[in-house]
Amino acid sequence: MKIYCEKDYEAMSRRVAGIIAAQVILKPDCVLGLATGSSPEGAYKELVRRYQAGELDFSKVTSVNLDEYKGLAGDNDQSYRYFMNKHLFDHVNIDKSRTFVPDGTEADEEKSCKAYNDILRREGPVDLQLLGMGFNGHIGFNEPDSFFEKETHCVALTESTIEANKRFFEKEEDVPRKAYTMGIGNIMQAKSILVIVSGEGKADIVAKAFQGPVTPQVPASILQFHKDVTLVGDQAALGKLLG
Ligand code: GLP
Repeated sequence: MKIYCEKDYEAMSRRVAGIIAAQVILKPDCVLGLATGSSPEGAYKELVRRYQAGELDFSKVTSVNLDEYKGLAGDNDQSYRYFMNKHLFDHVNIDKSRTFVPDGTEADEEKSCKAYNDILRREGPVDLQLLGMGFNGHIGFNEPDSFFEKETHCVALTESTIEANKRFFEKEEDVPRKAYTMGIGNIMQAKSILVIVSGEGKADIVAKAFQGPVTPQVPASILQFHKDVTLVGDQAALGKLLG
C-alpha cells in the first residue's frame, strides 16, 4: 500500500485530485468509481479547477458511484446524485448519461440492486475507485456485519452512521434509514483503490482498518487484501497508523 500523509485538508485534496487527474490523462475513457462525503469535496473542487484551466478532459470518462440513500430522488439536495452534480458533474465536460448512481427512487430493493449490478458488470471494471471511510470503518454504505456482502445491496444504516450524517440534514428524522450500496466484492474488483481520510476523528478507525485483523466488523479492513491501494490522509487522520 502507498501512503501519502499530507499536512492538511487542502494538501490532501490536491494529492487526491492529482492521482485522479493522472488516471484521466493516461486513460481518457477510464471508469472512475466515485464517492461522496466531506472527505472528497476538496478533491472535486481541485479537479474542477484543473478542468477550467484546460488541463483535463472528462468527455470520454464513465463514472459509477458507490451508494445512494433509498427514497431520495436526484433532485433532492441530500441525495448523492445531487452531491455529484453539484460538486463535479455540473462543472466539467463529463457526459451525464455516462455517470451512474444507484437509483434511490426504486422502492423494489431487489430490482434496484440488480439494475446497479448489471450496470457495474456492463461498464466495469472500475479503473480507479475513490473511497472515504465511515467512523465505524464502513466503505460505501457497507456497515459492520458478520460477513462481507459481495454485490450491490440495500442496507439499514447503523445509529452511528445516521448520527454522523445528520449534519447534512435539517433534522435527524430526515436522514433516510436505508441506502443502496455497491458490495465489498464490487469495490474489490476495481483495478486500483484510492482511500481518502481526514480529521482526528478518523485516526482510530484508520489504524484499525489497516493494521488490525481483516474482519467484516471493520469493512475497510478488507482493503488489506487488495493489491493496489493508495491511502491519502491529513496528518490528523493518519496520526495513529503512522505512529
Ligand atoms: C458516508 C458515505 C461514504 C463516505 C463516508 C465518510 O456515509 N456513504 O461513502 O465515505 O460517509 O464520509 P466523510 O468523508 O464525510 O467522513
